[in-house]
Amino acid sequence: MKRATERRLAPDVIRGLALACIGMIAVQAAALEAPIPRNVLKQGSEFTSAANRALQADDFANPGMLWVTRGAGLWREAVGGDKACASCHADAAASMKGVATRYPRIDAGAARLAVANAIRAGSRLRQSRKTCSP
Ligand code: HEC
Repeated sequence: MKRATERRLAPDVIRGLALACIGMIAVQAAALEAPIPRNVLKQGSEFTSAANRALQADDFANPGMLWVTRGAGLWREAVGGDKACASCHADAAASMKGVATRYPRIDAGAARLAVANAIRAGSRLRQSRKTCSP
């Protein structure tokens, strides 16, 4: 008789376990909360200073545009006997529109996660094997 009483959990322990369960359920419920509504979302640029935003908006003052200009030149440049990117993809503004937003993604051919660089490398490979299907 005494043994059965000793095996029972103390009321404080039961209360503690119950509170822990309620806490875990609350945490899970919070994790399943609906996503933030689109009209409340902010662009990353809203966290940038006004001076930086003005700099980014000005193509002549923005130093990043040096790389954009360089990239545009490389796009049209044939390297080492290979075709230029533009020879298959034509105008990047049209053919590459939205490409950055599609990565990372699963590369079905390689059955692994692909990032833009890997895709570009794959594209280079296709280019050198002359398997273009523009
Ligand atoms: C010989 C033709 C050819 C050349 C030259 C070429 N590509 Fe490609 N590229 C392709 C083909 C074919 C694909 C695959 C399209 C597909 O799978 O839908 C592709 C795909 C891509 C993609 C993925 C596009 C997407 O919508 O996800 C990128 C990025 C890309 N190429 C960049 C480049 C760059 C940068 C160069 C120059 C260094 C280049 N390509 C040169 C043929 C070429």
